[in-house]
Amino acid sequence: MTGFELNGRKLVCGVMGDPVEHSVSPAMHNAAFRKLGLNYVYLPFRVSRDRLASAVEGIRALHMAGMNITIPHKVSIIPLLDEVDPLAQRIGAVNVVHNKDGRLTGGNTDAEGFLRLLKEQGIETHSLHAVVLGAGGASRAVCFALASLGSDITILNRTLQKARDCAEDMAKYTGRTFAALELNPDNLTKSLARADLLVNATSLGMAPHAGESPVNGKLLERRHIVVDIVYNPVVTRLLRDAEKAGARIIGGLNMLAWQGALSFEIWTGCRAPVDVMRRAAVQAMKRYAK
Ligand code: ATR
Repeated sequence: MTGFELNGRKLVCGVMGDPVEHSVSPAMHNAAFRKLGLNYVYLPFRVSRDRLASAVEGIRALHMAGMNITIPHKVSIIPLLDEVDPLAQRIGAVNVVHNKDGRLTGGNTDAEGFLRLLKEQGIETHSLHAVVLGAGGASRAVCFALASLGSDITILNRTLQKARDCAEDMAKYTGRTFAALELNPDNLTKSLARADLLVNATSLGMAPHAGESPVNGKLLERRHIVVDIVYNPVVTRLLRDAEKAGARIIGGLNMLAWQGALSFEIWTGCRAPVDVMRRAAVQAMKRYAK
């Protein structure tokens, strides 16, 4: 079986979001299905906010195997599901749905995906001082992942209250306290002076604003490990500046591949070929860049 032969037993997965036309997930997942010879296909579905409930019902009605959920539906889908796993509840965002006999369960593979990425890169986290930029869904997933490993975390966000909410939620979960600050040059200077790991989980630097960075490059040093969640462009301004400073850099396609791999495993029960998925994502990004 080629995996792409169209037949009556094809199991359908996909991604629901708006926009989705530049998603690299279809390329990533279909490459993995093909590699393992699985009879699945993965499609992009553009779903507007006012049609989300109908689309979720469609997952049940059309017997789809599962769905990734992306902007702007990661939070608003929660009440439409039959069940949401405890981690996704704590994070407050769902990026994957599994359909088991018409019962839809929501999960979050961003957090575990981030952990797998750190492990793959051999990064020891329990004694790390981490600075996380942003307090949206992606940031909360990263923060909960780091908190579960015992890292010390400072969260900086443009909207201070959201950083405080994230820090409080993590304190409830871990019994430890976390610093929450407004994202501004002073606070960045102070926080980065004692940080080992910097994670950008804001959308700053994403195309078409690829020239922007949340951090002045002068604040970056050789001892920093800099992770950007943004994957378009593949190498962001932040990562370029970090590389110039001699820091170790990790681009957003790595985390994308890991969250995708974990979604794949939930749906298929098979171990995901993460390197195949990562390569397919890189190739898809190159095609978009043309
Ligand atoms: P996601 O699910 O990808 O995390 P999100 O929940 O919309 O998306 O969160 C986007 C994050 O990027 C937020 O932390 C947002 O800051 P606010 O909470 O203040 O909105 C941050 N962000 C987006 N644009 C930004 C900008 N121009 N400057 C600073 N932060 C920005």
